[in-house]
Amino acid sequence: MSEALLLEKAQSAAEKAYAPYSNYPVGACVMTESGELFTGCNVENGSYSATVCAERVAIFKAISHGARVVTALALFTENRALPCGTCLQVLSEFARDGEILIYAGSPTGSVSYRLSELLPHAFQFKPKP
Ligand code: THU
Repeated sequence: MSEALLLEKAQSAAEKAYAPYSNYPVGACVMTESGELFTGCNVENGSYSATVCAERVAIFKAISHGARVVTALALFTENRALPCGTCLQVLSEFARDGEILIYAGSPTGSVSYRLSELLPHAFQFKPKP
């Protein structure tokens, strides 16, 4: 089942995190509509605001490889955190019919949500009237 696979890949990706400031490794894995998987980890910077979250690294890798629809995202952290608001907004850009499955995992288990539960009113540029 893809939930377990995505979480396993997200956990491995967290091992690559560059997080010397927060010491909070995060790993992500996205699945595209064609079934391809792309992983990411958080990449911090001494100029803190230049830090990029694991989810956005994974999403941007997928998009830069030509994908345009993301169907699922798994996030692995030590405390089963959910994606931050900025990453949810970025995800919403690439959701088909506004929906993406989101799995949040930790060493003690996982939970799942739909994007529309976590971000029910995403910003849309020039939404149709
Ligand atoms: N972080 C993520 O990678 N994803 C999120 O959704 C929230 C936060 C990272 C950024 C930073 O490296 C560390 O977690 C602490 O905020």
